[in-house]
Amino acid sequence: MKKIVLLAIGSSIFLLTIAQQPAGSPAAMKSFIDNLMSKMTLEEKLGQLNLPAAGDITTGQAANTNIAKKIRDGQVGGLFNIKGVEKIRDVQRIAVEQSRLKIPLLFGMDVIHGYRTIFPIPLGLSASWDIQAIERSAQIAAAEASADGISWTFSPMVDISRDPRWGRVAEGAGEDPYLGGEVAKAMVRGYQGSNLAKDNTIMACVKHFALYGASEAGRDYNTTDMSRQRMFNEYFLPYKAAVDAGAGSVMASFNEVDGVPATANKWLMTEVLRRQWGFNGFVVSDYTGIAEMVEHGIGDTATVAARALNAGIDMDMVSDALLNTIAASIKKGIVNTAQVDAACRRILEAKYKLGLFDDPYRYCNPARAAKEIYTQAHRNEARTIAAESMVLLKNDGNILPLKKTSKILLVGPLADNAQNMPGTWTVAAEHAQAIPVLSGMQMTAPNTNISFARGSNLSEDAKFEERAGMFGKSLNRIDMPAGDLIADAVRAAADADIIVAAVGESAEMSGESSSRTNIQIPQAQKDLLQALKKTGKPIVIVLFAGRPMDISQEAKDFPAIINVWFPGSEAGMAIGDVLFGAVNPSGKLTATWPQNIGQIPLFYNHKNTGRPLPEGQWFQKFKTNYLDVTNEPLYPFGYGLSYTSFTYSNMKLSSTNMQGNGTLTASITVTNSGKVAGKEVVQLYLRDVVGSTTRPLQELKGFEKISLQPGESKTVSFNITPEQLKFYNYDLMYDWEPGEFDIMIGGSSAKVQKLRMQWSK
Ligand code: BGC
Repeated sequence: MKKIVLLAIGSSIFLLTIAQQPAGSPAAMKSFIDNLMSKMTLEEKLGQLNLPAAGDITTGQAANTNIAKKIRDGQVGGLFNIKGVEKIRDVQRIAVEQSRLKIPLLFGMDVIHGYRTIFPIPLGLSASWDIQAIERSAQIAAAEASADGISWTFSPMVDISRDPRWGRVAEGAGEDPYLGGEVAKAMVRGYQGSNLAKDNTIMACVKHFALYGASEAGRDYNTTDMSRQRMFNEYFLPYKAAVDAGAGSVMASFNEVDGVPATANKWLMTEVLRRQWGFNGFVVSDYTGIAEMVEHGIGDTATVAARALNAGIDMDMVSDALLNTIAASIKKGIVNTAQVDAACRRILEAKYKLGLFDDPYRYCNPARAAKEIYTQAHRNEARTIAAESMVLLKNDGNILPLKKTSKILLVGPLADNAQNMPGTWTVAAEHAQAIPVLSGMQMTAPNTNISFARGSNLSEDAKFEERAGMFGKSLNRIDMPAGDLIADAVRAAADADIIVAAVGESAEMSGESSSRTNIQIPQAQKDLLQALKKTGKPIVIVLFAGRPMDISQEAKDFPAIINVWFPGSEAGMAIGDVLFGAVNPSGKLTATWPQNIGQIPLFYNHKNTGRPLPEGQWFQKFKTNYLDVTNEPLYPFGYGLSYTSFTYSNMKLSSTNMQGNGTLTASITVTNSGKVAGKEVVQLYLRDVVGSTTRPLQELKGFEKISLQPGESKTVSFNITPEQLKFYNYDLMYDWEPGEFDIMIGGSSAKVQKLRMQWSK
């Protein structure tokens, strides 16, 4: 770009043409940051690497806090956990008016599944298999958060997990790397849009790099250990997908990788992330992740801070360890200034890309905050997506959808509880505004006779219930003997045609630091269900779950189960939509549900072993199996029913003998063979039959969600190229190997049609 300047010297006018970099170009960014950094002291550079939590800042009072002093002194690069546009504006003002270099702050928050308008928990979102809807949910979250002062979200969480004991399975997209990658990309696109500097987009932060979902025994923060084969082929893909989609930042995980905490793991943060994947954003530690490495046992604070920086961590969340120790470590020669410069540059680049140097108040527009947050339009979208995420697990005798003419008794501790509807990680939500099941059902079926009896507390154990009701998400415990609560519900059932039981987990029984060794419905609620079963009335279970659960008993005893996860702000409306049939459920599980906890880890994309159990059998001596339970899950990956039925026929391959870089087309005809319109998630799986290393029995490689009217058929085609056959071999080279492949298509991982083909190089 050229800029024309008129220059008057004396009476002569000169026309000068100056080469100018367009604002925002990489070269303009570089020269801006070069110039800024040339003025910065070492202390100010270290200040940019510091991310304290905001603490309790009151609007108008920001200037008097300890944080304000640090900001003035140039010791803060960003803040998080501060909510409200006015407050954030106050704090930003301190940075840009009172610090020496006037560098604006980043404002981060855990905007995980919506900001004020809450969408289903991420595990639920993934069960919609609706990538556009997922992207849209992130877009709305970004629009609302950015209107309220936030420029950076600690999302998407893309940790693959195969262990439902781990509470944080709620925050991710389940067990599959391919689906996880598609969801990761959609979330990054949704948050960041095509231009990070727009006032309604925010920076994404992919977390938790890496392998956090593989903590031993499903206990949060625990050790992980796995082969590089497994890392690259099974766990890394979603992180890489998010990086490829342009995520601006990455968060290090709490766990160790190969015996070194991720936060100090140079191979992970520099070799894999930056060199192999070409990531050029910044890496932030997790909350006190740097200081915690003292407890991990790899050195004192100064040592671990130096290791983190040298490994490739750019920003220190909460520990203040880089700020306080790096200058001394430079003097000792443990860290060099180039490392500090590189980290500082990356943080400044993020601020530049967000447009904060142009306008530090870009995300602080009270007028937007007043009209663009929690709008009816956003709530309508949340309702639609929530209904899309629900998974119909069982529906014997088509007792769902409910008839509006039935007399319905609604029971259960989660039936009339607004606070628990949004689920875990809802920092900015007004929980009491969420719509509970009872009022949602009443509003979606206003003329239906719906009565309510509580029936039980969440848990028989009051102390457990306290732990499961944190962050103000009260469970409204009733101080009455369990037997009396049950008796009330049984009495009320006498008058009902059908019982709907809203049972399961509370919002805080999953999420961070919410691991469980028993993933069943709490006993108090199981007792309620069994007592109601004796009334002989049909019972529909509306299950709240933040993880795959062990509901083997209930699956045996009750005719209908709809899993609703935690549906978000519009929970009750979406549940009413599905229960009364205005929406036909179309969610499919993205993580395997085990028959019991002893089967964990249980996942569909496993290997064959040398002693596979012949299909359809339970037990054979010296085969890979259990004495007491079959190898099958209770519900497999990809499973979910509908109020209609779908038949698959006429699977075809365009060729059974491919060569080189061609494109194979696999197609199948799907027919709605039932009586109502519905949506089906058609899934494509591959098996590489013979490899130089062992290969999974099935790997998801594509999917399409289609809508079909009753009697309608559609042919769904998938294009397959050698790109989809690639994997990391023993030497971690990413390539495909010629040979035989099984191509499978179906409506669940366990129900597919299969054709074999040959692909040569
Ligand atoms: C969690 C992160 C989160 C961070 C900031 C940590 O405890 O592991 O996922 O982003 O806190 O709230």
